Amino acid sequence: MKYEETKRKIFKSSDFRLQTSNSVHIPVLQKEVIDYLNPKSNENFIDCTIGEGGHTVAILKRNKPNGKVLGIEADPKLYQKLKSLMVEVPNPNESKRIPPARDLQGRQFSNRLILVNDSYTNLEKIVEKQKFGPISGILLDLGLSSWHLEDSEKGFSFLRDEPLDMRYNQETTSLTAKELINTWPQLRIEEILREYGEERYARRISKEIIRIRRIKQIKTTFQLLEVIKRAVPKSYKYTRTSSRIATQQDKHSTTRTFQAIRIAVNNELYNLESVLPRTLEVLNSGGRLVIISFHSLEDRIVKNFFKEKDKPHRKKYSYYGTKEGLSTPNRIGEDDSGLGPILKILTKKPIRPSIEEIRMNFRSRSAKLRAAIKLVS
Ligand SMILES: C[S@@+](CC[C@H](N)C(=O)[O-])C[C@H]1O[C@@H](n2cnc3c(N)ncnc32)[C@H](O)[C@@H]1O
Repeated sequence: MKYEETKRKIFKSSDFRLQTSNSVHIPVLQKEVIDYLNPKSNENFIDCTIGEGGHTVAILKRNKPNGKVLGIEADPKLYQKLKSLMVEVPNPNESKRIPPARDLQGRQFSNRLILVNDSYTNLEKIVEKQKFGPISGILLDLGLSSWHLEDSEKGFSFLRDEPLDMRYNQETTSLTAKELINTWPQLRIEEILREYGEERYARRISKEIIRIRRIKQIKTTFQLLEVIKRAVPKSYKYTRTSSRIATQQDKHSTTRTFQAIRIAVNNELYNLESVLPRTLEVLNSGGRLVIISFHSLEDRIVKNFFKEKDKPHRKKYSYYGTKEGLSTPNRIGEDDSGLGPILKILTKKPIRPSIEEIRMNFRSRSAKLRAAIKLVS
């Protein structure tokens, strides 16, 4: 049976419904990440999106005894959680909770883990400040972590009634999901729903948002959910059989809209475009770059960047959109990196999770991994 067909079957099956309520973060494509990063004793790595530390722990197990990982996390709350679980020595009087295995492993490796609360877009500055190097590999595992959906209380999930925020970092990002929904013009909302959410009912949903917000502000995830439900045809509608069970229809009507708004609020595509050339600035010759994306636009950005760097060239580098969003595409930055190829692509086609992995971890279903090696300069 073909991959896509099998994936669709799993999507429809009841197994998947259980998966969507799984609150434990399972690292996506873990084996493949390690295969491509290929960590060896005493090598140093950067995990640009450390999240809940799954991939980092796997790297730390392999680069013993003195290899380090610099882990970057944009979300201050998740960073604090990670720090208390992976770096700080627990106070036995404070917590009676038995930590899961990864926490213990994290602490076991804590002298080789440097955690930073910042955006990976500041990669060079972070590396310089931490005096971190030489760097044998860089990992980017894009998007949000399970913690954001389950515990952050920032409105990332339509399964919870929460205020619409969706910022990874509330200190550095001013635009909230609530502000976007209640102030952006209809056409701009339609544009992001279509582009970032790949939502075929982008116009209907954006028009309904405008209609409802004229009556009262849309402030919470459940209010937004109601708007989406009203906007899309019945056959396409989200049917929630219980607050913790999601069905195939979710993907169409709500997941896509929530995903689009999250990407816009956090400027995720812009961030990805801006970090890619920076990784090459800090990566050692022979170092590896591994990127997992969950969205076709992200994957396209990575694919094009890899292709461009894999051939002799001297070309302008165009960024996707601007800090302000999609409407005023801008060309900034110039690739002055010389004539020879800088990268060698290791994955001709993107690596995708096996059907087994999708069964185990439904979140992995749209993951694509691409890897490349920096050539000796
Ligand atoms: C898919 S999760 C990473 C999961 C992680 N690999 C693991 O195994 O637990 C992506 C993480 O990147 C973080 N993130 C998103 N944008 C970021 C940015 N610009 N800089 C640093 N971290 C970012 C998110 O907050 C999220 O925790």
